[in-house]
Amino acid sequence: MFTIKVLDGSEGHIGLPCHENESLLDAVNKREKKIPYACKGGGCGLCKIKVEEGEFKRGRSSKTVLPDHERVMNYTLACKTYPISDMKILIDLSKLTHSS
Ligand code: FES
Repeated sequence: MFTIKVLDGSEGHIGLPCHENESLLDAVNKREKKIPYACKGGGCGLCKIKVEEGEFKRGRSSKTVLPDHERVMNYTLACKTYPISDMKILIDLSKLTHSS
């Protein structure tokens, strides 16, 4: 069991548990913060998030919606991302341009 700190671009964050074989999408959406999704199969790109800290593994996903240059910058698809350590993730990417 790992702890996922979820940043939504506002002040503060929530911490929630995520099992090793549970996707970040399922772990987050069981709680109050919602990540949009459609396919849960790594194909639509709606669940794209950014990993700020922590290690994770990815399942198979489309390079059309998550190209290599985004992968190396720690963008990932929450439906196909599984923690292997505690993590900190940003779920509202629209806030990225305002935060740096
Ligand atoms: S829900 Fe479609 S890529 Fe994650």
